[in-house]
Amino acid sequence: MAQTTETAYASHHVNTPLSKNEHLLKWVEKIARLTQPARIYWVDGSQEEYDRLTHEMVDAGTLTRLNPELWPGCFYARSDASDVARVEDRTFICSLSKDSAGPTNNWMEPLAMRKKLKGLFSGCMRGRTMYVLAFSMGPVGSAFSRIGVELTDSPYVVVSMRIMCRIGQAVFKEIDKGARVVPCVHSVGAPLEPGHKDVPWPCNTEKYIVHFPETREIWSYGSGYGGNALLGKKCFALRIASNIARDEGWMAEHMLILGVEDPHGEKTYVAAAFPSACGKTNFAMLIPPRGFEGWKIWTVGDDIAWIRPDATGQLRAINPEAGFFGVAPGTSAKTNPNAMASLSRNTIFTNVALTPEGGVWWEGMTDEPPRECRDWQGQRWTPEIGRLQGRKAAHPNARFTAPASQCPTIDPAWEDPSGVPISAFIFGGRRATTMPLVYQAFNWSSGVYIGATMGSETTAAAAGAVGQVRRDPMAMLPFCGYHMGDYFRHWIKMQRTLSLTPKVFHVNWFRKDKDGNFLWPGFAENMRVLKWIVDRARGRALGKETPIGWVPRYEDIHWDGLEFSREAFAELQHFDREKWRKEVIGHEELFIDLHDHLPKELVYERELLICRL
Ligand code: OXD
Ligand code: MN
Repeated sequence: MAQTTETAYASHHVNTPLSKNEHLLKWVEKIARLTQPARIYWVDGSQEEYDRLTHEMVDAGTLTRLNPELWPGCFYARSDASDVARVEDRTFICSLSKDSAGPTNNWMEPLAMRKKLKGLFSGCMRGRTMYVLAFSMGPVGSAFSRIGVELTDSPYVVVSMRIMCRIGQAVFKEIDKGARVVPCVHSVGAPLEPGHKDVPWPCNTEKYIVHFPETREIWSYGSGYGGNALLGKKCFALRIASNIARDEGWMAEHMLILGVEDPHGEKTYVAAAFPSACGKTNFAMLIPPRGFEGWKIWTVGDDIAWIRPDATGQLRAINPEAGFFGVAPGTSAKTNPNAMASLSRNTIFTNVALTPEGGVWWEGMTDEPPRECRDWQGQRWTPEIGRLQGRKAAHPNARFTAPASQCPTIDPAWEDPSGVPISAFIFGGRRATTMPLVYQAFNWSSGVYIGATMGSETTAAAAGAVGQVRRDPMAMLPFCGYHMGDYFRHWIKMQRTLSLTPKVFHVNWFRKDKDGNFLWPGFAENMRVLKWIVDRARGRALGKETPIGWVPRYEDIHWDGLEFSREAFAELQHFDREKWRKEVIGHEELFIDLHDHLPKELVYERELLICRL
């Protein structure tokens, strides 16, 4: 971009800036000079503003208002067909040295990346409004919380962020009090030339999702989609926050948080990490099955946990988000009634199907598909067309963006600024073989080893894919903003700051028999495993020692309300020495990549495991 256009440029302010912070004001001007928006608008976060923005997007064709009788306050968006998911291969951690990013992240030299970004962002907001969006991850004012400002040319991002986190006036106030800000710049990368008509979902085929961990900055270009564009979520709350957390002595994790309340009112909170498509949202919103009358599961969060020790050395966690950005397909009144209630109003749906009544539908929502609808690309879809052409009505990664406050099981303490106490960590993956339903680590370092080596089977049910395990340490492979080996070291070190060490468990709801049938019913029945976990964490349940850890005996599980034989349980928990030998060889593959940063504890844990095998 020629220097002359940049300096000659002045954008029109729609409203008065909502902050007096000079650094912020200067930075907004600087980015405006670079990106050249037609207008600058400071987002106050009010309902009135939300209503106005959604109204404008309906007029522009980006949103469709759903039938208010069926879906009050809900909107529907269809993305560009090429902009439907996170783009891991276009995601960069630009630390000063490549070694700090580690072998599991894409890296580019920061100066070279800055040059690249300068070119991409020059004039990229022409013809559009640049929104100044202040957001707080975590309740405003909590010691856990961290603040960002996202400059974005996407109103879809603004309204989605209003659901996913705390935004607007209250956050600008924190900035004016001197709170540190993580600057985030986002553009869909589609400048609008004079006289040109906009498209419903502007984006660019070239995409860059870039993090500068040392300067705590995020730059996102070319995508309007969820994890690429709502920068508070994966980019800030995980990739940048994992860096902040390491430096400050806390943890930013890809974990749900839930509370288990027993019939006497005793409540125990656990945090659990599962890779994508392993039922995290379902687990966070579990409804106890028959035989668990008087028990209740409370939801604190379904995706991200920020965890830190309090003054007494007890780990406490908050959910930094305020909404659920969940996968719609497969969600139903049967699989997750609490999610269905959460998304029943005031929700933005993206890439699901649109019914003739002005409602939404997706595969798995009901047993009977609608007789006719518009699919996620706007094409006519019927069950027969779907069958004949092998076409789904909703994109498999179609999403709902729903306020967490609407979840019937939302925990009364979910916005407690001091968080909830964490008694146990649970790791899990999708494993057809080898991994028992549940086992408990011997201690913290063996627990860290279990998290570090966890894996999940690739879900595309292609022949031969079964047993293909992708290692996804702590479910953080795409989200850890620094070297994975250093991240393990941070986990090891965290224990030294604690007065009470949480117990660590591994679960697997997906083990299959030799004919390929699931051995465990899953869903609500996972409550039985959770009860054993809580009892163990509180030091009142027995178990049996095995080479991999502690396991429940048949009689240690509460079976009321479910017929499940001793033999079936034995098969589910079976320890197969041969399979475990292969498993440990798989661990080594990951460790070879990370070897020069691997903490000794994990090397020794591996040796001990081999000895016990
Ligand atoms: C998510 C993810 O969207 O993990 O939560 O990809
Ligand atoms: Mn996630």
